Amino acid sequence: MADAQVLRQCMVEGLAERGELDERWRAAFTEVPRHVFVPELVWHQDRGFQGDCDLVPLRRAEDPQRWLELAYANTSVITQVDDGHPTGENGRGFEVSSSASMPAVVAQMLTALDAEPGMRVLEIGTGTGYNAALLAHRLGAPHVVSMEIDATVAEHAQDALAAVGYGALRVITGDGAQGYPPAAPYDRVISTAAAAEVPYSWVAQTTPGGLVLTPWGTAYYPGGLLALSVGTDGTATGKIVGSASFMWLRAQRIPRYTIGQIMRDHDAAAGSTTDLHPWYVTNDAHAATAIGLRVPGCQKFYHPHSPDTGTLYLADQHHRCWATVHITPEPPYEVRQYGHRKLWDDVETAYHWWKDTGKPTVNAWTFTITPSEHRIELC
Ligand SMILES: C[S@@+](CC[C@H](N)C(=O)[O-])C[C@H]1O[C@@H](n2cnc3c(N)ncnc32)[C@H](O)[C@@H]1O
Repeated sequence: MADAQVLRQCMVEGLAERGELDERWRAAFTEVPRHVFVPELVWHQDRGFQGDCDLVPLRRAEDPQRWLELAYANTSVITQVDDGHPTGENGRGFEVSSSASMPAVVAQMLTALDAEPGMRVLEIGTGTGYNAALLAHRLGAPHVVSMEIDATVAEHAQDALAAVGYGALRVITGDGAQGYPPAAPYDRVISTAAAAEVPYSWVAQTTPGGLVLTPWGTAYYPGGLLALSVGTDGTATGKIVGSASFMWLRAQRIPRYTIGQIMRDHDAAAGSTTDLHPWYVTNDAHAATAIGLRVPGCQKFYHPHSPDTGTLYLADQHHRCWATVHITPEPPYEVRQYGHRKLWDDVETAYHWWKDTGKPTVNAWTFTITPSEHRIELC
């Protein structure tokens, strides 16, 4: 049975071998004990579960070795479900509300943050406190402030940070979308919760020349890592610099849904067909970014039936609209659409716009954040 130190060494070597670990962060990943930050109770997804609540609890005491291996696996660890009140039977959960991010993603974000010792950093989304501890290791605990919206999660993180000697790192319980003016300005702001709209307070609290780094996305494609440089005029501009899929900032949350919740009034849906295989509008990050921007509020979900058949579901929860496209080995594919937004038509139109515009890549989009504007444009 491998102990924590051996597992940690394996995690670090795995990251380094895959080229995911910047040498500047190697000592932090080697010396910060990730398992100290992982709570005794975690959840894992049971993909074979037939009901809605497919997040299954795992208590450390029930299987200490499995728990420890999970703490050092290159995966995210679910550390809270349903805002701390599991909605399923026997502690099962429906929606992830806090997690320790995947180590490779943590490493990628720290590299992109480009923070150096002595800089002051604000982290949004303390979660377990592990990322905050890595920052404290390299920059010094007094240089890091971390904000967490959930009081119980924040308390656990503060305790874990104190346990590994970083008690001087301030964990603030509150809405990170407001930033934390008392300790501003910061050289770097890093959010570990995704934003569809980047809060201007992060820009306002970053020193000119500084950087704001956040997962960014649309309901359709929640997968970009956005880096914004802050100028002397108080505006920030930037690009997508990588991929990162995170839970949303609480006020921007798009709730998880089940097919049953969305697919109502099936008989009232309009039928049509399409020759465009849904693969083209779902599997290409560049196309998906453009579609997400042009079809706001539309979520997608693919349910395979066999290797070459399945159903693409599109849903706008807010307006209670949905569409399905049934994939068969050959076109045409049957489409059904319900509600005042014809989601498949909109997605198909957006896809053709993207093609006709020269298939812009994710980093062709420029983001500009000012006190009054959140602009995303091709340039
Ligand atoms: C993916 S987890 C963060 C992972 C964490 N950095 C770590 O190292 O474990 C995202 C966290 O953001 C928190 N969160 C969501 N919205 C927030 C907000 N508006 N302000 C502060 N924290 C928020 C969630 O409660 C959750 O704990």
